[in-house]
Amino acid sequence: MKTVLLGVSGSISAFKAAEITNELTKLGFQVDVMMTKSAQEFITPLTIQSLSHRRVHTDVMVEPDPALINHIELAKRADLFLIAPASANIIGKLANGIADDLLSTTALAIKSEVPKLIAPAMNTYMYQNPAMQRNLTILKTDGYQEIDPREALLACGDFGRGALATTKDIVDQVLKNLGTPV
Ligand SMILES: Cc1cc2nc3c(=O)[nH]c(=O)nc-3n(C[C@H](O)[C@H](O)[C@H](O)COP(=O)(O)O)c2cc1C
Repeated sequence: MKTVLLGVSGSISAFKAAEITNELTKLGFQVDVMMTKSAQEFITPLTIQSLSHRRVHTDVMVEPDPALINHIELAKRADLFLIAPASANIIGKLANGIADDLLSTTALAIKSEVPKLIAPAMNTYMYQNPAMQRNLTILKTDGYQEIDPREALLACGDFGRGALATTKDIVDQVLKNLGTPV
């Protein structure tokens, strides 16, 4: 069974991580989910855990198995690394190699041959910001594939590019990279 390691960060669209987890699990993938502190303000680990049927990981300092280093194990067993939704903050941190929480620390430990997908979601002006575009360019140079945000009426009331890609588009990208779940 192939494992998708899903990182969820603090965007209003974090609730869509539940649907992504559900779809991938139903397809037959094992889905390991990591949530940032901010992501947990938008959706609970309990929701995600109930859909993935697996422990949800939230804290780099919590070691469920004393025999293992959790963030290294999560990275090692990932056949694909996906961040959806990816906040401006996590994109900035990953582009600069910052490792100050579980998601950003684990990201650094992902093996180079493992496909890495990133699905940004944010206000359209945040997305267009030169610092954001610079950071995305760096991530693409580092081997990340961007799953482009959609143009839509955003939660903040602005219309423009910044809405998280559809669950179908995200799942399709996973399938394109991994093929079958087994
Ligand atoms: C209601 C609300 C909605 C937010 N939506 C987004 C968003 O869609 N994208 C984003 O990049 N940040 C958004 N933020 C800001 C992030 O949550 C904030 O930058 C946070 O530090 C991100 O932390 P993380 O990257 O560790 O998850 C939102 C904040 C609030 C209060």
